[in-house]
Amino acid sequence: MASGNRGKVAEIAAALAGLPVKVLALGDFGPVAEPEETGGTFEANARIKAAYYADWTGKPCLADDSGLEVDALQGAPGVYSARYAGPGATDSLNNQKLLAQMAKVPDDKRTARFRCVLVYSDPRGSELTAEGTCEGILLHTPRGAGGFGYDPLFYLPALGKTLAEMPLTEKNKASHRGQALRNMADKLARYIHEDRRD
Ligand code: IMP
Repeated sequence: MASGNRGKVAEIAAALAGLPVKVLALGDFGPVAEPEETGGTFEANARIKAAYYADWTGKPCLADDSGLEVDALQGAPGVYSARYAGPGATDSLNNQKLLAQMAKVPDDKRTARFRCVLVYSDPRGSELTAEGTCEGILLHTPRGAGGFGYDPLFYLPALGKTLAEMPLTEKNKASHRGQALRNMADKLARYIHEDRRD
């Protein structure tokens, strides 16, 4: 898994638990420079990371890229979600900037979605792609202490709470990343099955 984040790696290992694979983290391979995420889409950036680390480790690699798309901001912050507030951006500064940009946007125009794209790449050159989205509404003030990133501003009308007001197990059921992971687990299961038949 192309991530140094142990929490993310554990989440992915859990999603792939039914498959005959062993999930390794980047830390298991020693230090390596990160590739530049120069893609204009989540898919392009996930593909850059998956191909780069598959090449470096010589092993099949799964990479993800995700972010927030706000309709009233024509899809921003999008691939710039992590660095929305500029150099030295933090979750708090990103949320402050988002609230400022959305200050004049009325309630019925505050729709947004999280999107996550996972790309699997292996040294034989095979590639699989899976996506997940999570639709919601941006609040005017943060709610909840869980999660990370834009979670405290992201309200799910069907559940009556923000992503930051849910335990992780509940967030994983509703989230873009959980959905993308379930889609990828299905695709990988089929891929492994077909590979074994060849
Ligand atoms: P990454 O793909 O994990 O690097 O995430 C990119 C950025 O998108 C994060 O830094 C967050 O700002 C935002 N983001 C992605 N997924 C989530 C989420 O589940 N909750 C809140 N923010 C998220």
